[in-house]
Amino acid sequence: MKRTVIKSTGRYVPPRVVTNHDLTQWMDTSDEWIRQRTGIEQRHWIPEEGGVGSSDLALEATKIALERTGWTAKDIDLIIFATLSPDIFFPGPGCLLQHKLGLNSTPALDIRQQCTGFLYGLATADAYIRSGLANKILLACAEVHSTGIDISTRGRDVAVLFGDGAGVVCLEGIETDKDVGILASALHANGEFAESLMIEVGASRLNPRISEELIKEGRHWPVMDGKTIFKEAVRSLPNVSQEVLQKSGLSLEDIDLFIPHQANLRINQFFQQSMKLPEEKVFHNIQRYGNTTAASIPIALDEALEMNIIGDGSAVIFLGLGAGLTWAAVLARLVG
Ligand code: UT7
Repeated sequence: MKRTVIKSTGRYVPPRVVTNHDLTQWMDTSDEWIRQRTGIEQRHWIPEEGGVGSSDLALEATKIALERTGWTAKDIDLIIFATLSPDIFFPGPGCLLQHKLGLNSTPALDIRQQCTGFLYGLATADAYIRSGLANKILLACAEVHSTGIDISTRGRDVAVLFGDGAGVVCLEGIETDKDVGILASALHANGEFAESLMIEVGASRLNPRISEELIKEGRHWPVMDGKTIFKEAVRSLPNVSQEVLQKSGLSLEDIDLFIPHQANLRINQFFQQSMKLPEEKVFHNIQRYGNTTAASIPIALDEALEMNIIGDGSAVIFLGLGAGLTWAAVLARLVG
């Protein structure tokens, strides 16, 4: 049977560290508020002068993952790129990354699933691989949020949450009788909540798409109804985990680690408690990176592997909820 396995991982965050205390120079906030409500202590942002896009961060993470796999860029059959913060409005960063890797005809596909970009990307890659359309896929997830948030007090509810970074995985199809690789996935969306977390300007439904008035109103910044999203996350994440367990035939006790999207430490603690899991079974690193949206789960996976919390044979559930709303989970058994 054809199975999609995670061959290697890589992560990259820009070196500039912005602490909660640093944020207080631009907005009325405090280290105490941010830590208590979110768990975040610091995040990494690109240099203040800009000039670095999501594809640049993804390139650095990709170099690491390719080296670990022993692939060259030419071995890749398909690039899937997940981001909500593309370098330019269009074309998407999949093409930009492809070019930066020295390729000139490898297909590149962009997906826009925000916080569940890695999960939708894994499920998409798995479908490509199992159908025989591709066998070696680079799934790159990267975000540059720092240039797209309102760092004045008006935008503080959103601005303190987000960090820049990239996480990538190399995926390969193998023929095996063993239950390894991606064993189950469950994807969901509910557009009813589309405006609970969004950036509106410059979108096609506005004419003109951008104007001084729109900018004065702050409609080019992200807006979020944090409480609704929090509630939806706490409600949906246990259900979607149970769904992949049921699909795979595994039980809760078979899972070595849950790697949730890193949106809020409290959301993930609620998840751990409602699933009655021991603390060490749910991975957190939001303290150091903030919310890196599509990149948060692959960055966490890369760290968990580096820390030897998981390795060859571990069963892992990746899960998350975010803008869309979209929510999803993927259950995979890792191979060495
Ligand atoms: O990955 C994307 C998906 N997003 C999420 O999963 C986010 C889910 N939601 C959350 O994580 C939480 O709702 C937040 C952390 C965003 C906010 O926490 P909250 O407990 O829901 O706070 P709140 O929005 O109800 O705000 C409470 C107070 C308000 O002041 P008043 O009205 O009580 O006077 C806010 O104005 O905290 C104020 N506030 C802040 N104060 C200091 C909001 N942001 C800040 C801030 N610093 N950064």
